[in-house]
Amino acid sequence: MKDIEYLKKYLANKDDLNSAIKKLENGEPVQYIVGEVDFYGIKIKVNKNVLIPRFETEELVFKTIKYIKKCFEKPIKIVDLGTGSGCIAIALKKKMPDNFVSAVDISKEALAVANENALLNEVDINFYLGNMLKPLSGKYDCIISNPPYIDYDEEIMDIVKNQEPHLALYAKNKGLEYYEVILKDARKYLNDQYLIAFEIGALQAKDIKKMAQTYLSNSLIKIEQDMQGRDRFIFIYNAR
Ligand SMILES: C[S@@+](CC[C@H](N)C(=O)[O-])C[C@H]1O[C@@H](n2cnc3c(N)ncnc32)[C@H](O)[C@@H]1O
Repeated sequence: MKDIEYLKKYLANKDDLNSAIKKLENGEPVQYIVGEVDFYGIKIKVNKNVLIPRFETEELVFKTIKYIKKCFEKPIKIVDLGTGSGCIAIALKKKMPDNFVSAVDISKEALAVANENALLNEVDINFYLGNMLKPLSGKYDCIISNPPYIDYDEEIMDIVKNQEPHLALYAKNKGLEYYEVILKDARKYLNDQYLIAFEIGALQAKDIKKMAQTYLSNSLIKIEQDMQGRDRFIFIYNAR
Protein backbone atom coordinates (compact mmCIF):
# COMPACT_ATOMS: atom_id res chain seq x y z
CA MET A 1 0.00 0.00 0.00
CA LYS A 2 2.82 2.37 0.95
CA ASP A 3 4.46 1.56 -2.41
CA ILE A 4 1.27 2.38 -4.32
CA GLU A 5 1.09 5.77 -2.57
CA TYR A 6 4.71 6.30 -3.61
CA LEU A 7 3.86 5.47 -7.23
CA LYS A 8 0.93 7.87 -7.18
CA LYS A 9 3.25 10.66 -6.12
CA TYR A 10 5.32 10.15 -9.29
CA LEU A 11 2.82 8.91 -11.84
CA ALA A 12 -0.13 11.16 -12.52
CA ASN A 13 -1.29 9.39 -15.71
CA LYS A 14 -3.74 6.54 -14.97
CA ASP A 15 -2.33 4.16 -17.64
CA ASP A 16 1.20 4.65 -16.37
CA LEU A 17 -0.02 4.04 -12.84
CA ASN A 18 -1.83 0.83 -13.79
CA SER A 19 1.18 -0.56 -15.62
CA ALA A 20 3.42 0.44 -12.68
CA ILE A 21 1.12 -1.37 -10.23
CA LYS A 22 1.42 -4.51 -12.40
CA LYS A 23 5.22 -4.28 -12.19
CA LEU A 24 4.96 -3.84 -8.43
CA GLU A 25 2.78 -6.95 -8.21
CA ASN A 26 5.43 -8.82 -10.21
CA GLY A 27 7.98 -8.01 -7.53
CA GLU A 28 9.81 -5.06 -9.09
CA PRO A 29 11.10 -2.55 -6.51
CA VAL A 30 9.13 0.68 -6.53
CA GLN A 31 12.34 2.71 -6.94
CA TYR A 32 13.18 0.97 -10.26
CA ILE A 33 9.61 1.51 -11.48
CA VAL A 34 9.70 5.22 -10.66
CA GLY A 35 13.31 5.42 -11.86
CA GLU A 36 14.62 7.77 -9.20
CA VAL A 37 15.17 8.19 -5.47
CA ASP A 38 15.88 11.03 -3.13
CA PHE A 39 19.33 10.57 -1.60
CA TYR A 40 20.70 13.10 0.87
CA GLY A 41 18.38 15.74 -0.58
CA ILE A 42 19.39 15.15 -4.20
CA LYS A 43 17.70 13.34 -7.06
CA ILE A 44 19.41 10.11 -8.13
CA LYS A 45 18.23 8.10 -11.13
CA VAL A 46 18.24 4.34 -10.73
CA ASN A 47 17.69 1.31 -12.93
CA LYS A 48 18.26 -2.42 -12.62
CA ASN A 49 22.01 -1.99 -13.24
CA VAL A 50 22.58 -0.20 -9.94
CA LEU A 51 21.89 -0.86 -6.29
CA ILE A 52 19.00 1.18 -4.92
CA PRO A 53 20.68 3.66 -2.54
CA ARG A 54 19.91 2.78 1.08
CA PHE A 55 19.14 4.97 4.07
CA GLU A 56 22.28 3.66 5.85
CA THR A 57 24.39 5.00 3.00
CA GLU A 58 22.99 8.48 3.63
CA GLU A 59 24.22 7.99 7.20
CA LEU A 60 27.63 7.01 5.82
CA VAL A 61 27.78 10.28 3.86
CA PHE A 62 26.63 12.30 6.87
CA LYS A 63 29.24 10.76 9.18
CA THR A 64 32.01 10.94 6.58
CA ILE A 65 31.48 14.69 6.16
CA LYS A 66 32.02 15.03 9.92
CA TYR A 67 35.27 13.01 9.75
CA ILE A 68 36.51 15.01 6.73
CA LYS A 69 35.99 18.23 8.69
CA LYS A 70 37.82 16.73 11.65
CA CYS A 71 40.77 15.29 9.69
CA PHE A 72 41.47 17.93 7.03
CA GLU A 73 41.71 21.69 6.81
CA LYS A 74 42.06 22.18 3.05
CA PRO A 75 40.06 20.82 0.11
CA ILE A 76 40.87 17.16 -0.40
CA LYS A 77 40.85 14.41 -3.02
CA ILE A 78 38.17 11.79 -2.42
CA VAL A 79 37.55 8.53 -4.26
CA ASP A 80 34.35 6.48 -4.00
CA LEU A 81 35.02 2.80 -4.78
CA GLY A 82 32.05 0.85 -6.17
CA THR A 83 30.07 3.98 -6.94
CA GLY A 84 26.97 2.31 -8.48
CA SER A 85 24.43 5.08 -9.09
CA GLY A 86 27.09 7.59 -7.99
CA CYS A 87 25.00 8.58 -4.96
CA ILE A 88 27.89 8.82 -2.46
CA ALA A 89 30.28 10.66 -4.78
CA ILE A 90 27.62 13.09 -5.99
CA ALA A 91 26.28 13.84 -2.49
CA LEU A 92 29.82 14.51 -1.22
CA LYS A 93 30.63 16.81 -4.13
CA LYS A 94 27.30 18.62 -3.76
CA LYS A 95 27.80 19.20 -0.03
CA MET A 96 31.55 19.92 -0.19
CA PRO A 97 32.05 21.44 -3.65
CA ASP A 98 35.69 22.48 -3.05
CA ASN A 99 36.80 18.87 -2.81
CA PHE A 100 37.92 16.83 -5.84
CA VAL A 101 35.85 13.70 -6.22
CA SER A 102 36.55 10.58 -8.28
CA ALA A 103 34.56 7.39 -8.48
CA VAL A 104 35.19 3.84 -9.69
CA ASP A 105 32.96 0.96 -10.71
CA ILE A 106 33.61 -2.32 -12.48
CA SER A 107 30.21 -2.15 -14.20
CA LYS A 108 30.03 -0.13 -17.42
CA GLU A 109 26.25 0.03 -17.09
CA ALA A 110 26.44 1.36 -13.52
CA LEU A 111 28.98 4.01 -14.56
CA ALA A 112 26.59 5.19 -17.30
CA VAL A 113 23.92 5.77 -14.60
CA ALA A 114 26.45 7.51 -12.31
CA ASN A 115 27.54 9.75 -15.16
CA GLU A 116 23.93 10.67 -15.95
CA ASN A 117 23.37 11.48 -12.26
CA ALA A 118 26.45 13.69 -12.14
CA LEU A 119 25.16 15.64 -15.16
CA LEU A 120 21.68 15.87 -13.66
CA ASN A 121 23.10 17.26 -10.42
CA GLU A 122 25.63 19.48 -12.22
CA VAL A 123 28.70 18.18 -10.43
CA ASP A 124 32.10 17.42 -11.85
CA ILE A 125 33.33 13.92 -10.97
CA ASN A 126 36.09 11.84 -12.56
CA PHE A 127 34.72 8.39 -13.29
CA TYR A 128 36.92 5.33 -13.80
CA LEU A 129 35.94 1.90 -15.06
CA GLY A 130 37.82 -0.89 -13.31
CA ASN A 131 38.54 -3.04 -10.30
CA MET A 132 38.50 -0.99 -7.07
CA LEU A 133 41.83 0.91 -6.69
CA LYS A 134 43.39 -0.54 -9.86
CA PRO A 135 42.37 2.15 -12.42
CA LEU A 136 43.65 4.99 -10.20
CA SER A 137 46.96 6.77 -10.37
CA GLY A 138 48.13 9.41 -7.95
CA LYS A 139 47.21 9.81 -4.32
CA TYR A 140 44.00 10.52 -2.45
CA ASP A 141 43.16 11.85 1.00
CA CYS A 142 39.95 9.95 1.48
CA ILE A 143 38.70 6.58 0.27
CA ILE A 144 35.00 5.96 0.78
CA SER A 145 33.22 2.76 -0.14
CA ASN A 146 30.03 0.82 0.27
CA PRO A 147 31.33 -2.30 -1.48
CA PRO A 148 29.43 -5.55 -2.04
CA TYR A 149 29.50 -7.26 1.38
CA ILE A 150 26.88 -10.01 1.48
CA ASP A 151 28.13 -13.55 1.98
CA TYR A 152 26.98 -15.92 -0.79
CA ASP A 153 25.34 -18.16 1.87
CA GLU A 154 23.44 -15.36 3.59
CA GLU A 155 19.65 -15.38 3.35
CA ILE A 156 18.41 -12.05 2.03
CA MET A 157 15.00 -10.73 1.03
CA ASP A 158 13.68 -12.05 -2.31
CA ILE A 159 13.08 -8.54 -3.63
CA VAL A 160 16.79 -7.78 -3.18
CA LYS A 161 18.12 -11.16 -4.35
CA ASN A 162 15.86 -11.35 -7.42
CA GLN A 163 15.88 -7.73 -8.53
CA GLU A 164 19.13 -5.97 -7.64
CA PRO A 165 22.45 -6.67 -9.43
CA HIS A 166 24.39 -9.50 -7.78
CA LEU A 167 27.61 -7.69 -8.68
CA ALA A 168 26.52 -5.00 -6.21
CA LEU A 169 25.55 -7.43 -3.45
CA TYR A 170 27.79 -10.43 -3.01
CA ALA A 171 31.41 -10.87 -2.01
CA LYS A 172 33.59 -13.86 -1.15
CA ASN A 173 35.25 -14.61 2.18
CA LYS A 174 32.11 -14.12 4.29
CA GLY A 175 31.45 -10.88 2.42
CA LEU A 176 34.82 -9.43 3.44
CA GLU A 177 36.59 -9.76 0.06
CA TYR A 178 36.51 -6.11 -1.02
CA TYR A 179 37.43 -4.63 2.35
CA GLU A 180 40.63 -6.65 2.17
CA VAL A 181 41.23 -5.80 -1.52
CA ILE A 182 40.98 -2.10 -0.62
CA LEU A 183 42.86 -2.11 2.71
CA LYS A 184 45.71 -4.26 1.40
CA ASP A 185 46.68 -1.65 -1.22
CA ALA A 186 45.26 1.52 0.33
CA ARG A 187 48.62 2.90 1.52
CA LYS A 188 49.91 3.16 -2.08
CA TYR A 189 46.98 5.39 -2.99
CA LEU A 190 46.76 7.52 0.15
CA ASN A 191 48.56 10.64 1.29
CA ASP A 192 50.18 10.70 4.75
CA GLN A 193 47.06 12.22 6.23
CA TYR A 194 44.18 9.93 5.32
CA LEU A 195 40.65 8.81 6.00
CA ILE A 196 38.98 5.58 4.92
CA ALA A 197 35.22 5.38 5.39
CA PHE A 198 33.34 2.10 4.90
CA GLU A 199 29.75 0.99 5.15
CA ILE A 200 29.87 -2.58 6.52
CA GLY A 201 27.60 -5.54 7.29
CA ALA A 202 26.28 -5.60 10.86
CA LEU A 203 28.49 -8.56 11.88
CA GLN A 204 31.68 -7.58 10.05
CA ALA A 205 33.16 -4.84 12.24
CA LYS A 206 35.54 -7.06 14.23
CA ASP A 207 37.07 -8.70 11.13
CA ILE A 208 37.46 -5.42 9.25
CA LYS A 209 39.05 -3.76 12.28
CA LYS A 210 41.58 -6.60 12.39
CA MET A 211 42.37 -6.13 8.69
CA ALA A 212 42.85 -2.39 9.19
CA GLN A 213 45.24 -3.07 12.09
CA THR A 214 47.20 -5.44 9.85
CA TYR A 215 47.43 -3.30 6.72
CA LEU A 216 47.33 0.21 8.21
CA SER A 217 48.91 -0.19 11.62
CA ASN A 218 48.96 2.94 13.79
CA SER A 219 45.66 4.13 12.35
CA LEU A 220 42.84 5.26 14.56
CA ILE A 221 39.83 3.02 14.02
CA LYS A 222 36.29 3.97 14.95
CA ILE A 223 33.28 1.70 14.53
CA GLU A 224 30.00 3.60 14.36
CA GLN A 225 26.38 2.52 14.62
CA ASP A 226 23.35 3.15 12.45
CA MET A 227 20.01 4.47 13.76
CA GLN A 228 19.13 0.94 14.90
CA GLY A 229 22.28 0.69 16.97
CA ARG A 230 23.98 -1.85 14.67
CA ASP A 231 27.70 -1.59 13.81
CA ARG A 232 27.40 -0.39 10.21
CA PHE A 233 30.32 1.99 9.57
CA ILE A 234 34.05 1.97 10.14
CA PHE A 235 36.39 4.94 9.90
CA ILE A 236 40.13 4.40 9.65
CA TYR A 237 42.28 7.52 9.84
CA ASN A 238 45.25 9.19 11.40
CA ALA A 239 45.09 12.09 13.80
CA ARG A 240 45.83 15.59 12.62
C1 LIG B 1 26.86 -2.17 -2.63
S1 LIG B 1 26.96 -1.45 -4.25
C2 LIG B 1 27.14 0.27 -3.77
C3 LIG B 1 26.65 1.24 -4.80
C4 LIG B 1 26.61 2.70 -4.29
N1 LIG B 1 27.94 3.13 -3.92
C5 LIG B 1 25.67 2.82 -3.11
O1 LIG B 1 26.17 2.97 -1.98
O2 LIG B 1 24.45 2.77 -3.30
C6 LIG B 1 28.60 -1.92 -4.75
C7 LIG B 1 29.07 -1.44 -6.10
O3 LIG B 1 30.39 -1.97 -6.32
C8 LIG B 1 30.54 -2.34 -7.68
N2 LIG B 1 31.61 -3.34 -7.75
C9 LIG B 1 31.54 -4.69 -7.54
N3 LIG B 1 32.75 -5.25 -7.68
C10 LIG B 1 33.61 -4.23 -7.98
C11 LIG B 1 35.01 -4.17 -8.24
N4 LIG B 1 35.78 -5.26 -8.20
N5 LIG B 1 35.56 -2.96 -8.52
C12 LIG B 1 34.80 -1.84 -8.55
N6 LIG B 1 33.47 -1.84 -8.32
C13 LIG B 1 32.89 -3.02 -8.03
C14 LIG B 1 29.17 -2.82 -8.09
O4 LIG B 1 29.01 -2.75 -9.50
C15 LIG B 1 28.25 -1.87 -7.31
O5 LIG B 1 27.94 -0.74 -8.08
